[in-house]
Amino acid sequence: MVSTIIEDAAVRHHGLLIPVLQEIQEHYGYLSEEAVKEVANKLGMKISDVYGVASFYTAFSFTPKGKHIITVCNGTACHVRGASRAVDILSEELGIKPGGTTPDMQFTLETVACLGCCAIGPVVVADGKYHGNMTPAKVEKLLLNLRKGESIEKDKICV
Ligand code: FES
Repeated sequence: MVSTIIEDAAVRHHGLLIPVLQEIQEHYGYLSEEAVKEVANKLGMKISDVYGVASFYTAFSFTPKGKHIITVCNGTACHVRGASRAVDILSEELGIKPGGTTPDMQFTLETVACLGCCAIGPVVVADGKYHGNMTPAKVEKLLLNLRKGESIEKDKICV
């Protein structure tokens, strides 16, 4: 139940908004309208203020995301090394555009401006694991492994 999680998180984080929102995001995968209202009520804030803070951070989402989140860096360094090809492959395979989620809620595809590890571009992050030097073949293999539910090894850590 949303209110129980908010209640516990508010106590654990001494009423600090962002950690409470993080817990809800982690638990449900997004911040529902109901959750935002309950957080505002619990912390004695205006609903608009909660939305204002949450919408500032890209880590928070107001729509449900897929089980697997794939993020392709489309910053300049990754772009010139072929990131758009990775986006095209993933879009085609999954049948969604960046920002979209598959109807079965298995995959969400996102793009980002720069992940800070340009030297190993193009970079794709899958479920929080960074993969560098992503050729089309490596993108295909990554997606295949995610579909099979196999654990994926990260190529390199850049953060
Ligand atoms: S441009 Fe992709 S990591 Fe910097």
